[in-house]
Amino acid sequence: MNEETNIELSKISKQDRWRLNQHKSGVIWFTGLSGSGKSTLANEMDKRFYQMGIHSCLLDGDALRFGLNKDLGFSRDDRKENIRRAGEISKMMADAGLLVLASFISPYQSDRDMVRSMFSPGEFFEIYVQCPLEICQNRDPKGLYKKAQDGSITEFTGLTSPYFPPEKPELVIPTDRLSVMKCADMLITYLGHQSFLLENPS
Ligand code: ADX
Repeated sequence: MNEETNIELSKISKQDRWRLNQHKSGVIWFTGLSGSGKSTLANEMDKRFYQMGIHSCLLDGDALRFGLNKDLGFSRDDRKENIRRAGEISKMMADAGLLVLASFISPYQSDRDMVRSMFSPGEFFEIYVQCPLEICQNRDPKGLYKKAQDGSITEFTGLTSPYFPPEKPELVIPTDRLSVMKCADMLITYLGHQSFLLENPS
């Protein structure tokens, strides 16, 4: 038992799990406007990691808001709480040895920094899924931009609620200029250069 927090800690460390899995764990955090392609890219990465023998898992805003976070809306405070919970879950899953693919609009730098602060350097990657607002609006895969424009949805990111692009992202992926496959290649190359995908991690 940890006397200060009274939390039962596992005798198996994260590093033990890395050795067992033969890969490191951490969080790849996709941030960007609704319709920018965060979930699409995360899904492609999940497939690639599976093929590479890497244990990954998906965590996304829509799924969380449907269940665990269904008590939250889109005010500044609710978004902060949404991201705080997403960060806590990501941490638990990363500690369990998983490579978490987290897709959240996460429009505020301070919220993204809060999640980053939960991780050691080299275990959190802030990926800016960059796509101009007009293109997201044209894509409008869920019809939400239209609803926001006719006023049936309020506080909609990019229109009636702000989005602050990452100040120092690990990587910027322009989804309006590259195919999903090329975006995924870009991320794999980046992670390779960080020695994140090496076997036999210590
Ligand atoms: S975040 O801002 O708190 O990070 P999150 O990623 O969890 O947002 O959820 C965004 C998803 O909620 C969008 O993809 C969209 O499907 C849905 N949504 C519903 N209302 C809004 C809104 N007002 N602003 C943004 N997204 C909304």
